[in-house]
Amino acid sequence: MEHTAARDNVGMNEPALNPAVDEDPQSPGHEAEHPRRIRSFVVRAGRMGTGQVRALQDLGPRFVLPYTGRPTDWGSVFGRDAPRILEIGFGMGQATAAIAHARPEVDFIGVEVHEPGVGALLKLIGQGNLHNIRILQHDAVEVLEHMVAPASLAGVHIFFPDPWHKKRHHKRRLIQPALVSLLASRLCEGGVLHGATDWQPYAQQMLEVLGAEPQLRNTVGIDGGGYAPRPDYRPMTKFEQRGIRLGHGVWDLVFEKV
Ligand SMILES: C[S@@+](CC[C@H](N)C(=O)[O-])C[C@H]1O[C@@H](n2cnc3c(N)ncnc32)[C@H](O)[C@@H]1O
Repeated sequence: MEHTAARDNVGMNEPALNPAVDEDPQSPGHEAEHPRRIRSFVVRAGRMGTGQVRALQDLGPRFVLPYTGRPTDWGSVFGRDAPRILEIGFGMGQATAAIAHARPEVDFIGVEVHEPGVGALLKLIGQGNLHNIRILQHDAVEVLEHMVAPASLAGVHIFFPDPWHKKRHHKRRLIQPALVSLLASRLCEGGVLHGATDWQPYAQQMLEVLGAEPQLRNTVGIDGGGYAPRPDYRPMTKFEQRGIRLGHGVWDLVFEKV
């Protein structure tokens, strides 16, 4: 599951958009206080490879956490007190696994709703013998609201969030003022919010919304345009390499909690 904006000009979720899904009062998170929360995703049935199924069975019990909706003692979950980075929408988990491998001193909470992606990341966890990742298969907004304490994260990663190209779907984009304010509240002082996208209009929206959040500061300032060079720890995907050869852009945004 790779980001698709430049490839076919259609976000991975867009063709499957079914408003009935997120207006279903039975759907998780359809709480009284958010009677019509607009979700940034649509849960689709996806085909699982046999390796992913096996990884879910073998490694799921250890690495996938249930959504409890209650504050979580992450120190006991990971068995240590290390800086923690939460990733929203890890897709098939390649970047997550590569970064966790490169940064063993940091613990990673990967949140993704797409089950084949969960299986894929578990497979990578097994192959890489990684101990510093835990997974939640749930809406990241609810995880942040209910399971992550204020000022407790060293970082947040949001790589290639669904761009929701069509204007009428823009309200589904993850990067909106309310979510950014929630994210900023979960970061500790000096914590870093790192986003990346290959869809320029969304990059502009991210720059505006992140720039308007008083708890955050753009680490590169705005004089050079406000976009950051890709930090070394974010691996370039194959798709991104090809896109760059073809002249497509990728924009990284790196903001710090003040
Ligand atoms: C375009 S994909 C990008 C995946 C990956 N980060 C990458 O760079 O290839 C966006 C992913 O975000 C997930 N997603 C969107 N909104 C989410 C949310 N609120 N909570 C958890 N996952 C979400 C989608 O299921 C999808 O897999």
